[in-house]
Amino acid sequence: MNSKELLCVCTDARHMSALSPAEMQGWTILTVPTLSAAAHALRERRYLVGLLVDVVGPPHLMGEVELFLNHHRDVSWIAVVEPGLVQLPAYRDLVARHMADYHTRPVDSERLAFTLGHAYGHAMLCDAALPVAAPPTRLTGTSPAIERLRAQIHKVAGVNAPVLIWGESGSGKEVAAQAIHEASPRAAGAFVPINCGAIPANLIQSELFGHQRGAFTGATKDKAGLIETAAGGTVFLDEIADLPKDLQSNLLRFLQEKTIYRIGSTRSISVDVRIIAASHVKLQDAVAEGAFREDLYYRLNVLPLTVPPLRERKSDLPRLADELFNSFLRETGGRVKGFSNCAMDAMMRHEWPGNVRELLNRIRYAMVMADGAVITAADLGLLPDGSDQLGQALDRSREKAERTALLTSLERCGRNVSQAARSLGVSRTTIYRLMEKHAISR
Ligand SMILES: Nc1ncnc2c1ncn2[C@@H]1O[C@H](COP(=O)(O)OP(=O)(O)OP(=O)(O)O)[C@@H](O)[C@H]1O
Ligand SMILES: [Mg+2]
Repeated sequence: MNSKELLCVCTDARHMSALSPAEMQGWTILTVPTLSAAAHALRERRYLVGLLVDVVGPPHLMGEVELFLNHHRDVSWIAVVEPGLVQLPAYRDLVARHMADYHTRPVDSERLAFTLGHAYGHAMLCDAALPVAAPPTRLTGTSPAIERLRAQIHKVAGVNAPVLIWGESGSGKEVAAQAIHEASPRAAGAFVPINCGAIPANLIQSELFGHQRGAFTGATKDKAGLIETAAGGTVFLDEIADLPKDLQSNLLRFLQEKTIYRIGSTRSISVDVRIIAASHVKLQDAVAEGAFREDLYYRLNVLPLTVPPLRERKSDLPRLADELFNSFLRETGGRVKGFSNCAMDAMMRHEWPGNVRELLNRIRYAMVMADGAVITAADLGLLPDGSDQLGQALDRSREKAERTALLTSLERCGRNVSQAARSLGVSRTTIYRLMEKHAISR
């Protein structure tokens, strides 16, 4: 039988007696002395249940404990604390927000073992109910813009010619490229994404085309490039505008001849791959600036596709948001249950300059940081509904109060500007400016 795993953080080894060996049979226990050791252990392995013995005690550690617990919400934590501590609001709050349960000293080992077993069983149950964490790789959405894209993807998938995808950052260019590959006769082959902007210029040639042993210092053996490893499949060249000019020539030659040369070799190798390229800058502009070869542009731009920005397919947003939310549930422990209506309204109003990637980042952040059971507009870093109107209403009443104060003061001073300025504690220039602003004649 698999044993239950427990991560125990115990700053003082003498207090480990809280766990009686007899009661803890069937458990494998890893005991660590510090929170950083616990964080390390949690990076290595997944624990469903954790025990904090006296860690929640020292006041100077409160911030550190809170930070640690915020990062590890997917563990069911049980705390062992001194009895007086839970009377203090700050400790009570910490325990209430982050602990599945707590025990005060003196510890009843039998009861503690029961609590740990119960927490473990419950965590297993929740874990099985949560979907596996992975952001969606499929093109979600039924908006006219996405349906149009889907139809285009379907058409270009059957053809072997290069595809050039344009779309704003984070709009889903890679998802679209993957969808083309999966709908193509090459689906059984590899889909190899290469971000031309992320690989250092001096490495990119060897990464793409491979090298022969001895071609340069450090080339100790022959190495196939990414294009070769994608044989039978698709190479996705993301951020193609970042490809250095000399490599643009190499790529052009590959597109024309379907053969590559590894660095240091004169032997041509024929490779059967389809090229899909993507860019968030308009390649025509790069061509006009002389940064991108025109002949390569025409070679790549055989089948152009545009991925629409998220703001042009807002009707897809609720479904996308739900999918992204579900994909992070396991990571965040299923503590947050969904979006508030306000949060959903705020998402529908936002313009999403960073597109789906921005949506993904905001949701992931909100799921970790939300205090309540549902995500609010503030958790997403968006303005709640009505805040604009509230701001405008405040501005209006401020203007009204300003006009009334000015008029009253001028009346009292017999329209003497110097006296009115003194009585209001402002300069004469300010009074003249305000009179002009509020259309008050002298
Ligand atoms: N229609 C969609 N349905 C589901 N998920 C999507 C969709 N579009 C994008 N995503 C998700 O959004 C994220 C960004 O998508 P992707 O990497 O394809 O965008 P990109 O345009 O290549 O972005 P970048 O410009 O940052 O390279 C990914 O995690 C992807 O899974
Ligand atoms: Mg991309």
